[in-house]
Amino acid sequence: MTSFSEQLKIATWLQHEKLEQLPFGNHLAKGTLPLKGYISQLQAYYLIHRELEQACRSHSILQLSMIWREELVKTPLLKADLEDLGAECLEEMPAAQGLINLIKKSQPIELIGILYVFEGSIMGAAVMHPTVCQAYQLSEKGARYFKGYGSQTRSKWNTFKKNFDKVLENDIINQPVVIASAQQTFEQVAILFAALWDNLQS
Ligand code: HEM
Repeated sequence: MTSFSEQLKIATWLQHEKLEQLPFGNHLAKGTLPLKGYISQLQAYYLIHRELEQACRSHSILQLSMIWREELVKTPLLKADLEDLGAECLEEMPAAQGLINLIKKSQPIELIGILYVFEGSIMGAAVMHPTVCQAYQLSEKGARYFKGYGSQTRSKWNTFKKNFDKVLENDIINQPVVIASAQQTFEQVAILFAALWDNLQS
């Protein structure tokens, strides 16, 4: 039987492929994105993860509390990377607003879909980590977020998916809600990537 996490992957994989084909994602993955673009992604992600982490902490529904863990936080990594790169943690950024609004208006169950997308993206980040380090001449500093959980990235993702499936496997009422939320998140990440790319051109 296909697990719910596999169904979700299938339901969003085309959107994932599109992200990789957008100029921003494509240059990032090839190591040809200007440093300014890399920094702007970290700045946007800092605001997005800060909002997501606050939202996950503030809701106490059972399903979310079984999936959300403090060890999933990414803001300290993003903050440290920005400091290493001599860049600011911005307090607002128009390009990130779509995702921030999505998080703000999400019900706790919908937050699980958003969490899936950003936690899963660590799998891709870890694959791109060596390219990012080479492109910007970084080692540990400045590339903490992209390093993900290092050699434990896949096992952590498997644990996340196991909890995720345990919570949602038989919940046919909430499954479509989580799928729709993950799809909206991918849609908003595409909008973010397009905006960050446009900013680089101006
Ligand atoms: C821009 C270049 C990107 C590349 C090259 C990339 C690449 C990858 C790779 C190699 C995987 C692992 C696939 C596997 O072994 O199962 C992955 C997984 C994933 N990525 Fe990306 N990724 C990119 C961007 C993103 C972004 C921006 C997001 C969302 C914010 C994202 C969300 C995900 C998710 C949710 C998964 C897990 C899919 C699953 O197993 O259910 N990716 N990515």
